[in-house]
Amino acid sequence: LPPDQQQMIEAHELLRKFYHHLLLNTKEGQEALEYLLNRGFTKESIEKYQIGWSLPNWDFSVKFLQKRGYSLSLMEKAGLIIKRDSSEEYFDRFRNRIMFPLWDHKGNTIAFSGRAFGQDEPKYLNSPETVLFNKSKTLYNFHHARAPIRKLQKAVLFEGFADVIASDRAGVANGIATMGTSLTDEHIRILKRITDTVTVCYDSDSAGIEAAFRASNLLANNGFNIEVAQMPDKMDPDDHIKKYGGEKFRNDVLGNCMTFMSFKMFYYRLGKNLSNEGERLQYIEMLLNEISALDKAVERDHYLRQLADEFSLSLEALKQQQQQIFFSRK
Ligand code: GTP
Ligand code: MN
Ligand code: MN
Ligand code: MN
Ligand code: MN
Repeated sequence: LPPDQQQMIEAHELLRKFYHHLLLNTKEGQEALEYLLNRGFTKESIEKYQIGWSLPNWDFSVKFLQKRGYSLSLMEKAGLIIKRDSSEEYFDRFRNRIMFPLWDHKGNTIAFSGRAFGQDEPKYLNSPETVLFNKSKTLYNFHHARAPIRKLQKAVLFEGFADVIASDRAGVANGIATMGTSLTDEHIRILKRITDTVTVCYDSDSAGIEAAFRASNLLANNGFNIEVAQMPDKMDPDDHIKKYGGEKFRNDVLGNCMTFMSFKMFYYRLGKNLSNEGERLQYIEMLLNEISALDKAVERDHYLRQLADEFSLSLEALKQQQQQIFFSRK
């Protein structure tokens, strides 16, 4: 690495250790620690994920870094501090936040995400894009999860990194997450090198379901086998694990995934009133389109039967219509 980038990483490592120390061993950090423990974080996960807390001061890290000889303009480029308009003064980007280090694929700390634990906005504040940190290439936890993903031949993709940490506690070691952005082609390329199967386990609120639909399509278009997990009551994985425990999460959520096709059925019927004839026919037609795109005759047959059963339709009629779509596409 060029010396500048080496120094940026060093500065991140030093701050990471200090934030972690503040959280665990100081009186000032106690409120943040209690917040985390109340949320269900354990000492082990705080340790493994090197979670910390940043002081409320405006210039703590400016002084911390300056004292250690780092150039402040370089530290600004690293995203750790911000320059005031029209003066030579700098101030801290992260103040009074729970600090989550973000790693590159080797485990170097290259950025932070800081969570407010009061009502401060935004809820999560991330480092800006820098030479070290590119959100569209970052998969949270990849350096821990790479070996388990290879071994299990499957990755579990979460929406939030808090879900990765909670599910690790629940015994799921192959979890990763994007940094609040949609899945990109770069993420896909990184994953493709180590597995071709992904469980999409996004939040079960409407934003999460939309995002899961987009991510699943992108994954499927890139040749991944996919399954999709859903939780009840608009929960996210972290909520579910806190409420029901790890075993139920593994069995009832991850162990009870939908196929991609079943997820499409679930998705297309959201917000539809299927007792309305017009909406019902529209839904059936959308599904026939999807079924026609399936490669395997056995699968097409399976979902046609399911559709026939569900709406008390004649299997013959459905088959006929599906075959028309199928052949009109060839
Ligand atoms: P908790 O409320 O701490 O449980 O967070 P969550 O993990 O449930 O997060 P949420 O479902 O709200 O969002 C998913 C992901 O989107 C987070 O992990 C963040 O990466 C990102 N995100 C959420 N809120 C913000 C925000 O205010 N700013 C930014 N930049 N990213 C956010
Ligand atoms: Mn420690
Ligand atoms: Mn969400
Ligand atoms: Mn969430
Ligand atoms: Mn959450």
